[in-house]
Amino acid sequence: MLAAVVAEKNFESASNSIKKANGADLIELRLDYIEDFEVVKLKRLLKNCKNPVIVTNRKKGEGGFFKGGEKERIQILKKSIDSGADYIDIELSSGINSVKELIKNKKKSKIIVSYHDFYGDSADIIGKYNEIKKLKPDLIKIVTKAGSVTGNFKIFDLIKKADKENRKIIAFCMGSYGEFGRILSIILGSRIIYASLSKGKESASGQFTLDELNSYRIKKLDKNTKIAGLIGNPVEHSWSHIMHNAAFDRMDVNAVYLKFRVDKLKEFIDYFRKLNCIGFGVTIPHKINVIRYIDGIDKKAKEIGAVNTIVAKKGKLTGYNTDCYGAIQSLKQRTKLKNRNVVVLGAGGSSRAITYGLLEENANVTVLNRTLKNAKLIANDFDCGYGSLYDLKNINYDILVNTTPVGMHPDLDKSPVPLNLVRKGTVVFDIVFNPYKTKILKYAEKKGCVVVPGIEMLVNGNVLQFKLWTGKNAPEQFMRKKIMEYLKNVSHQN
Ligand code: ATR
Repeated sequence: MLAAVVAEKNFESASNSIKKANGADLIELRLDYIEDFEVVKLKRLLKNCKNPVIVTNRKKGEGGFFKGGEKERIQILKKSIDSGADYIDIELSSGINSVKELIKNKKKSKIIVSYHDFYGDSADIIGKYNEIKKLKPDLIKIVTKAGSVTGNFKIFDLIKKADKENRKIIAFCMGSYGEFGRILSIILGSRIIYASLSKGKESASGQFTLDELNSYRIKKLDKNTKIAGLIGNPVEHSWSHIMHNAAFDRMDVNAVYLKFRVDKLKEFIDYFRKLNCIGFGVTIPHKINVIRYIDGIDKKAKEIGAVNTIVAKKGKLTGYNTDCYGAIQSLKQRTKLKNRNVVVLGAGGSSRAITYGLLEENANVTVLNRTLKNAKLIANDFDCGYGSLYDLKNINYDILVNTTPVGMHPDLDKSPVPLNLVRKGTVVFDIVFNPYKTKILKYAEKKGCVVVPGIEMLVNGNVLQFKLWTGKNAPEQFMRKKIMEYLKNVSHQN
C-alpha cells in the first residue's frame, strides 16, 4: 500500500495536504509536526479523511519532533485510538509496557510496532523483529539506515523471513543507498511504502514523492515484477527510469527499472543473481569493473572494453555495450558516416564506445583530448588519429562529437572547444543531454550545422536495452515523448 506522509505544522494545512494525496491508499499523519494539537481537531480530520489514516507521534530519538513528555506522547496515541485512527504506529523504544497496553486497548485500530536504526547497517534486526513479534501487533515495522548497498540485503532477507512466517511486515532502508530498496521491498512483500507529498517535504531521507512513486508504477508492482535498473554511483542524475518504466507500462511488461546506488559491486551482483532480474544498465564507475563479475560478454563490448548493459537470462549475466549503438544510431539518423572525417572530443569510456562504432562504419576518426596520453591510448587500441584539443583548428572535419561533460548542467555557459572552431556545414553531436541543447549545439545550430542532441543517444541506447531485456520492440516514439516531457519539467526547475 502507498502511504502519503502528511507532516504539517497545523491541522488546517494537514487537511489541505490530504486533499493533494492523489492515488495514495493511506495517509500517515505525523502528529509530532503539528503545533496546534487538540483532540477535537484530530477527530474532525479523521472523520473527514477518505483514506485510512496511520497516526504517528515520533519523539526526537526516533526521528520526530514531539516536544512534550513521554507520558503525554503515549496519551495522544491512546486518544487517537478513541478518535477513530485506523492505524497507530508506536515505537518499540516506547517500552514494552506502553506497547502492550496500547495493543490491549486498540479497539478498531490496527497497531504497527516500529523499530528504527539511524546509524548504519549493524543493528540486530532479526532480534528486534523477534522482540516485536512476541507482542503480536498487526504490523511489524523495521527501518534501518543503509550505509552501503548491502544494508538493503539484510532488510530484504528479513522481509522474506516474515513472509514465510506469515507476519505482516513493513521494512526498508533510509538514506541514498536505500532508495531503490524502498521500492524493491514492496515487490518482496513489505506492506507499506511511504511517500512525501512534494520535494522538500520528506519525513525521512531517501523518501520518494508521490509523483515519483507513480512514475515507478508503484501500485502495479507485485511479487512477479521483474527487476531491472541502473547500477552506478552516483545514479541520481540518471533519467533512464523515466523512459524504461513508461515503456514497461505501455508494453504491459510486469517489470520495474530502479536506480541502484552501488558501492560494493561484487556483493550487489552476487545478491541480485538470486532475484527475479532481467538486466541492468551500468554507469560510472562500474562500466569496466563489472566485466569480472559477469558470466559472458558480447564481442563488441569486449573490444570496446566497457559494459553498460547486462542481460540476465536463466541466472547467467551477459554484458553488452549499447552506448556505441545509441550514439551511432543517433548520427546515422542524420548523416552518412562512411569516409567522413570525424573528430571525437574526450577520451573516456563514452569516447571509446563511440570511436569504436565510428570506425566500424568506416569513418576517419581523430580523438582529441585534454590529456594527450588518454587520447593516445584509444588511438593505439583502435588505430585512429589523436591529438590535443588545441589541434582542432588544424583539422578539416565533417562531424564533431563531444563526449566530455563540458557544457552539462549547471555549467550551461561552457563549451569544450572555442566556438569559432565550429565549422559551417558540419554535423555537431553532443552526448550531454541536460540541457537539451548545450552551448556548442546552440551555436552550431545558428551557424547552420546539423545538430544531434545527447538525448537521442540516450533514447536509442535505451531502446536497444529494452529489446535485450524483454525481447520486445521498444515503443521508441513514446519513450522519446516521455523523456522530452520530463526534460521540459526539469528545465523549468533549472
Ligand atoms: P565517460 O565515461 O562519460 O566518457 P570519463 O571516462 O570520465 O567519462 O571521461 C571524461 C572525458 O572528458 C575525459 O576524456 C576527460 O579528459 P581527461 O582525459 O583529460 O580527464 C574529459 N574531460 C572531463 N572534464 C573536462 C574538461 N573540463 N575539459 C576538457 N575535457 C574534460
